[in-house]
Amino acid sequence: MAEQIRLLVIEDVPQVAMHMRSLLQAQSQIKMLDVITSGEQALSAVTELRPDVLIVDALLQGRVSGTQVAEQVRRTEPNVSVIVLTVPQNPVTEDPAAGIDAVLKMPFSGFDLTTMVRKVHEQSNVAGGHNAAIMISLFSPKGGVGRTTLAFNLAVALGADHRVCLIDGSLQFSDMRGLLRAPAGAPSIMNLPTDRIRDTDLAEVVWKDPSGIDVLLAPPRIEMAEMVTVRDIEKALSIIRQVYEVIIVDTRASLSDDVLAFLDASDLILEVLAYDSMAIRALAMADEAFATIGYAPSKIEAVLNRSDSTGGFSKADVEEVLNRQIDHEVVSDGKLVIAANNEGVPFVLANPDAQVSQGIRAMAASIAARLPARAGVLARR
Ligand SMILES: Nc1ncnc2c1ncn2[C@@H]1O[C@H](COP(=O)(O)OP(=O)(O)OP(=O)(O)O)[C@@H](O)[C@H]1O
Ligand SMILES: [Mg+2]
Repeated sequence: MAEQIRLLVIEDVPQVAMHMRSLLQAQSQIKMLDVITSGEQALSAVTELRPDVLIVDALLQGRVSGTQVAEQVRRTEPNVSVIVLTVPQNPVTEDPAAGIDAVLKMPFSGFDLTTMVRKVHEQSNVAGGHNAAIMISLFSPKGGVGRTTLAFNLAVALGADHRVCLIDGSLQFSDMRGLLRAPAGAPSIMNLPTDRIRDTDLAEVVWKDPSGIDVLLAPPRIEMAEMVTVRDIEKALSIIRQVYEVIIVDTRASLSDDVLAFLDASDLILEVLAYDSMAIRALAMADEAFATIGYAPSKIEAVLNRSDSTGGFSKADVEEVLNRQIDHEVVSDGKLVIAANNEGVPFVLANPDAQVSQGIRAMAASIAARLPARAGVLARR
């Protein structure tokens, strides 16, 4: 007999739950563990009952919506496959990165239901479970604050224990190409197919840096940046999230659509700043925009680069202007950083004991601590 599939249903309409229960009565492979009637209780029920597959109604009433449940479950219980149930008037798009492995539309038959539950469960078995990646963008509205330098070194520091992809989001000038000395012929995000991207396509396009990390480069020429659409970025990110555990994005100094596509998709935005009053003012403006967009305050953390070069004001002054705390600090080390950058090597490897490297490692450790426990098992192959 085939392996039994444990199913949990999050549904607040009793008739729909009953309908599912009666459809499943005719078979024994899928075992319906329970029906939970609110989004708020979904996560604790998943943790307690350990289902293989979850069906959640997109139209759940209450504080936590069905798609929010799907996303939370993907992040915290990445082995659980999720089917979102909806009606034709409320279309939902399949998006495994957001926890939506399949979409079941009402009305459905017993055959539709059991086939879909079996299919998502089999897919998950083949793929070895769903990956719960963390995506972090380094952002600043002002140039020259150290985003590219910090992004590279942070990616390498995390790369010691995790599968990391560094994305060159400075689409026009491709800072990473310059820093890593990638040849003009090295493929870029432009070489990914525009329709359905598969992980084999990705493997052919990423640049393997000698420091051990994979890098998705920006196009080699400025005018090519315009050919990369927001949709292309979103599609690339959704497959990258399936393959890597940590994704670090270097961005350009702008709040343009391409940068917003990276920021929207990120779990964490690291705002990079230095003791520079204009950079701090611009960041305060960006923070206002982020609040208007609706980014949760917890999605944003501040990194003070060159934290020992105060320039006449204190950390407390900066925190007051920004109305937020500084979460991470990286000291200045002109000699080491510039020499390492000029050779295209990460200073965290060139001189791991330097204070600047310790600052990066502390930031990496704080990020690694947020990865689900399973990520440790997945660690670099
Ligand atoms: N902690 C540091 N100590 C010393 N030098 C640093 C430090 N961080 C960055 N730099 C130097 O500052 C300069 C700018 O850094 P970087 O290019 O990483 O910034 P950016 O924000 O990516 O700039 P851009 O606006 O060009 O994208 C580089 O010359 C780099 O070597
Ligand atoms: Mg840069």
